[in-house]
Amino acid sequence: MASVLLGWQKGRGGGGGGGRVQALIYEFQHRCALPLHLLRKISEAMTHEMTAGLSTESGSRMPMLPTFVEKMPTGNEKGVYYAVDLGGTNFRVLRVLLGGREKRVMKQEFEEVAIPHPLMVGTSAELYDFIAKKLTDFVSRESSEFSTHAAAGARELGLTFSFPISQHSINSGLLIMWTKGFKIADGVGQDVVQALQQAMNRQHGPKLRVAALVNDTVGTMAGGRYFDPDVMIGIILGTGTNACYFERADNVHKLQNGKPLPKTGSMVYNMEWGAFWSSHIPTTHVDEQLDAESINPGQQLYEKMIGGMYLGDIVRRMLLKLAREASLFSGEVPQQLMTPFVLGTPEVSKMHADESIDLRVVAKTLAKIGIHRTYLHTRRAVHDVCDIVALRSARLAAAGITGILRKIGRDGKNGEYTRTVIAMDGGLYEHYAKFRIYIQAALTELLGEEAVKYVVLENFKDGSGIGATLLAACHSQHG
Ligand code: GLC
Repeated sequence: MASVLLGWQKGRGGGGGGGRVQALIYEFQHRCALPLHLLRKISEAMTHEMTAGLSTESGSRMPMLPTFVEKMPTGNEKGVYYAVDLGGTNFRVLRVLLGGREKRVMKQEFEEVAIPHPLMVGTSAELYDFIAKKLTDFVSRESSEFSTHAAAGARELGLTFSFPISQHSINSGLLIMWTKGFKIADGVGQDVVQALQQAMNRQHGPKLRVAALVNDTVGTMAGGRYFDPDVMIGIILGTGTNACYFERADNVHKLQNGKPLPKTGSMVYNMEWGAFWSSHIPTTHVDEQLDAESINPGQQLYEKMIGGMYLGDIVRRMLLKLAREASLFSGEVPQQLMTPFVLGTPEVSKMHADESIDLRVVAKTLAKIGIHRTYLHTRRAVHDVCDIVALRSARLAAAGITGILRKIGRDGKNGEYTRTVIAMDGGLYEHYAKFRIYIQAALTELLGEEAVKYVVLENFKDGSGIGATLLAACHSQHG
């Protein structure tokens, strides 16, 4: 395991409770540690749970959902397509002009807005009306550069809806539950496509048809495959975390909505790995508290240790503990640290990246949340906590990735090495440089120096949006 040189070992000065702070941080580090033997066990548990989830409908905590995506974009797609992307911190609408094999994505335009928090916990009609309004406005502003290339009739859309959905076909499916801070009681059990269609009708806007309903992992995989034929897996490390991959039909034994799935070919499976759990995963008191106080206690436990929505709050809770139990902030317990989610993962990433001698970025970031005048050793302690939390998250994700590689026979253990590209998307992966380094290091430990050379993690920025338009094109009625 990567050894972390705790800032506390590097010197200190001023403030009381130093020894106690140090002891608590060591303890936290020890409890979060993921040495290689544990990582292996977690990775094996992932493979095992995948098989179990494909065997029977409730075979695993991980739903392993069929997506009805059986083909990937080829590059020949042509025309004007739209995508809507809901499921992270932001809501996006996107329009692309696809020009076929030679010209590829000729033009694209998008709009992005933060999702107002009340919409995440309101009613489903409010949420779908919001989406329909933004989409209608956006489609109405289509310029002639696009419209001259569009097929007659309704515009076609890829709907990226990044929550667990029980699909019936490529463009229909019922929402199983909300994750990532969304909680809209009347949305569960609804057909997502129908609900959006009804909201679109209420807008009396341009005619639209949802050609593909996709998870963001699936969009990312399709977006990646468009540029690289070796893409086999799609992974999101963003607000939440999840993975999808192609599975052979003969490995799937469960029914879907009471019906057998096709027995030939292969299909993309949305694992919903955020729901994964293994008794080998180390937890702390802080994790237990975070889960108990979350809006979905007992659910998405793997996601709560990895996802960007939670890392900042794990750090906040640990700092609060250090303030209370070891006088980290010179005896004061900053009021601000009592506010859930006051510290986001972008702040953690910034503080973690601080390499200045006096840790001035850490000081500035703490000041932004109202904690002024910190000693250097306090800032080092904060830096260490960020490091411990990010390292655990990255190592857990790497164990999951290796679990999938094993399942599809691409972990090199059979002596065969085949280039395997994993399409990555999500803010955590994209913006957190140390996190990426930690994932790569853990993959090298798990796979070995030789096999890891054949596993390529590639960040297809906005892959999920483009991917959704491509899947809409693959399932178009315009032919
Ligand atoms: C959550 C959702 C899942 C999504 C992931 C990443 O885990 O349940 O569907 O893919 O977040 O956005």
